[in-house]
Amino acid sequence: MTTINEKPMIFLDRNENQYGPSPACFKVLRNSNDNILNIYSRDFTRGIKSLLSERLAHDFGTEETRILLGYGSEDILKQAVQCYINKNDKIMIPSFSWWYYKKIADEAEGINIQYPIVEGEGTFYYDIEGMIKVYNEQKPKLVLISSPNNPTGNRLETEQLNFVLEKMKDAVVVLDEAYLLFDETFKTDPVGLVNRYPKLIIIRTFSKYYALAGIRTGFAFLGDNHERISLLSARYLGFNRLSEKIAIAALDSSDYYNSIGKKMAADMEMLFNELNQLPGFHPYRSFANFILVKIPPEIKDSLKRYLTERNMIIKFMNEDGLDKHIRITLGTHSQNCTLLKLIRSFMSKEDKHELVRGV
Ligand SMILES: Cc1ncc(COP(=O)(O)O)c(C=O)c1O
Repeated sequence: MTTINEKPMIFLDRNENQYGPSPACFKVLRNSNDNILNIYSRDFTRGIKSLLSERLAHDFGTEETRILLGYGSEDILKQAVQCYINKNDKIMIPSFSWWYYKKIADEAEGINIQYPIVEGEGTFYYDIEGMIKVYNEQKPKLVLISSPNNPTGNRLETEQLNFVLEKMKDAVVVLDEAYLLFDETFKTDPVGLVNRYPKLIIIRTFSKYYALAGIRTGFAFLGDNHERISLLSARYLGFNRLSEKIAIAALDSSDYYNSIGKKMAADMEMLFNELNQLPGFHPYRSFANFILVKIPPEIKDSLKRYLTERNMIIKFMNEDGLDKHIRITLGTHSQNCTLLKLIRSFMSKEDKHELVRGV
C-alpha cells in the first residue's frame, strides 16, 4: 500500500472500483491449490477457448465463437486497431476521450480524426449530427465509440446508438462499454446488435463494475464479419486460468455487485449535489464510476497540493478544452465523504490561492 506520513494514500484518479471484488473471488484464490496450475487452460477436447468464454456465451445467449477474450479491454482495443488499421488508414475517435485511443491509433500509424463530444447544460453529449457528418466526409475504416465515455461520463442512449450504428455500418465500429454496468437500470442488447451489424465489436471488462482490474480480463462480442480478429487473438494454449475462475466467481455474485452498485449510485448523486453547491464548481452528469467537474482555474494548483498533502489523489485534467477540470473516481462511501470534507475545508480557507506557495 502506498503511504505518505504513514497514512494510506487514497487513489480516486484511476477509475478503479474501491469496494473490491466479491468475497467469492477471494475464495477462488484461497482454494486454488487444486493441482491444476501445471496444465494449460485451453479445453482441447471440446474445442472451446475457455471456461469463461463458454460461460459468457451462455449468459448472453450466443455462440462461444462470438466471444473474444483479452488481457483487459485495453488489449482487445489494441488488437482491433492493429487488426484493421494500416498506415494512413483513418480512425475516428471522440474529441474528448481516454488518451489510450489516440495512442493505439498512433501506434498503428493511422490517421486519427476527431468527432464531436460537446458541452451542454450540466452534461457532455455526443453531437450525433456532427459525428455522422465527420463520418460521411472522412469515410474512416474504424470508429471508436465509448459509452459511457471517459472522462466526460456521458453515454449514447439506445435510440442514438442504433441510429449511429446504422449510419456507420460500412466501417468497423468498436464500442467500448467498460463503464456500462454502473447504471444498473440501463440495459443493452450486445448480442442483438452484433448480430445486426456484422462489422461491430462491443467490448466489456471485469476491471470496473466487477472491481477486478488486477486480473486483466476483458471480453468482446463479435459481429459475423470478424474472422480476422478471432484468428489474430486466438491463444492456442488458453488464457489465465486463475483470472478466468475469479471472473466466473464475480459473474456468480450478482447480489454483492448489486449492493455496491446501489451505494455507488447514491454517492454519485451525493457528490453531484454537494459539488454543485460549491462556488465555481460545475459537475457534469455521469453514467460511469467517475465524475468530471469544472473548477475555478485559479484554485487548480492549490487544491491539488492541498489534497495530495492529505493523501487524497484525484485527477487534475490537462488536455485542451478540459484543463479547468478534475475527474473524481467514486470511492467507498467513507472515502467520498472524506474527499468532500477536504474540498469543503479547502474552499472555506480565505488564503486558498496562497496554499500553492506553501504559505
Ligand atoms: C474507456 C475505457 N475503456 C477501457 C479501459 C481499460 O480497461 P481494462 O482494465 O479492461 O483494460 C479504461 C481504463 O480506464 C477506460 O477508461
